[in-house]
Amino acid sequence: MTEKATLTIEGRSYDFDVFIGSENEKSIDIKDLRSKTGYITMDPGYGSTGSCRSSITYIDGAKGILRYRGYPIEEIASKATFVETAYLILYGELPKPDEFKEFSTCLREHAPIHTNLEHHFSGFPKSAPPMAILSAMLNLISCFHPELLDIHSEGPEFDKTAALLLSKVQTIAALAYRNAVGKPFNHPNPHLSYCANFLHMMFSDPYQEYVAPPVVEKALNLFLVLHADHEQNCSTSTVRVVGSSRANLFSSVAAGVCALWGPLHGGANTAVINMLEDIKKSGRPLSYYIDKAKDKKDPYKLMGFGHRIYKNFDPRSIILKKQVHDVLQELNLKDSLLQIALELEEATLSDDYFISRNLYPNVDFYSGIFLRAIGIPLNMYTVMFAIGRMPGWISNWQELLEHKQRISRPRQIYTGSIERQYIPLEER
Ligand code: COA
Repeated sequence: MTEKATLTIEGRSYDFDVFIGSENEKSIDIKDLRSKTGYITMDPGYGSTGSCRSSITYIDGAKGILRYRGYPIEEIASKATFVETAYLILYGELPKPDEFKEFSTCLREHAPIHTNLEHHFSGFPKSAPPMAILSAMLNLISCFHPELLDIHSEGPEFDKTAALLLSKVQTIAALAYRNAVGKPFNHPNPHLSYCANFLHMMFSDPYQEYVAPPVVEKALNLFLVLHADHEQNCSTSTVRVVGSSRANLFSSVAAGVCALWGPLHGGANTAVINMLEDIKKSGRPLSYYIDKAKDKKDPYKLMGFGHRIYKNFDPRSIILKKQVHDVLQELNLKDSLLQIALELEEATLSDDYFISRNLYPNVDFYSGIFLRAIGIPLNMYTVMFAIGRMPGWISNWQELLEHKQRISRPRQIYTGSIERQYIPLEER
């Protein structure tokens, strides 16, 4: 930290340290700005605000680069399993064979949920959104594991909590689905891989064991790998904000699920399919929807377009776009929504509104079609995102504690009424 940045306010100059990351990302350390100058910064949405230092994920939005612990997403997506990826994100290195075996065994051991926890599912109405169930149940797990609530536990205790969450999130997700469709629960099968086990819990029936076709298992693995972490996005920041009060990992990730639910974040994958369905049903030309999205008086947006960080392309959407074709072909499926999606992408690529604002398809644009192809029901899309994002949430929570990060507490500029006197009710 040799460089300094100088800020001049009201004729006085103040020096601030400059911190440069390992990929030459630059920041000005302004944590003393208020105490030194009396000013705060104003950055709603935090587009220019760094909230932490992190060694987990690197993104260069201009160049379309995404790396987990230094490994390019293209390489990880084509070669690694989700379990390996989760290990990498959690522990910083790819697992050696014995570490991988131990980690996989640990995940298998923690997949079943306590019978009393299972009973809670019957309290949810069938119409309960699976994201609400997931968040509630993740919080509830803590009631069954008081021994894991010590946030300062390290080593085996932390490993156990992390494995438990990574594993139970998919069991809870599958049971939420089974509950919604009124079918009996399937217990985890320890002989199956992470992805095959999830598909079994979702789709096996008492007299018909679901055996995932390799293409489906591979596709699910890819989907989860692509979602495993994405640095300080809305849900991960939420996990960090909640964790900064030293809340336990269960409640922190439960809050992450709630943040993910919104259509501007993880809920976009569901919103994209709804949008494409609407376009298909309406019979209206694409230009109608594109004009609507461009109309500033209309709140309508093209879902699956735009990204806070990627201003050129989202590398995950490039991977998914290619894979969605392969998966549809291998499964011998045709999806008319894919055709609409391709035409929509094509039309926006030559439209000045989208070009000038750097609005390109993001990961959610093709992920809905991808999940549809492998038979995942629409109300589970955002839940699938949550399963994938779990390693990132856990790892960011752990890093926050390791760095002893201060409690999150942004400032504001008050714009309300200035001091005034109370008027008794009868005099108003
Ligand atoms: N359709 C139409 N216009 C869009 C748009 C979309 N999907 N996304 C952004 N814009 C426009 C905004 O209206 C704004 O226009 P303006 O400069 O004329 O005011 C400009 O592009 C910048 O957008 P902004 O909302 O400031 O970007 P952001 O970084 O705050 O938001 C998203 C990013 C992702 C939330 C936003 O692009 C969006 O809502 N996309 C759709 C939802 C989605 O796919 N979310 C998943 C993200 S992975």
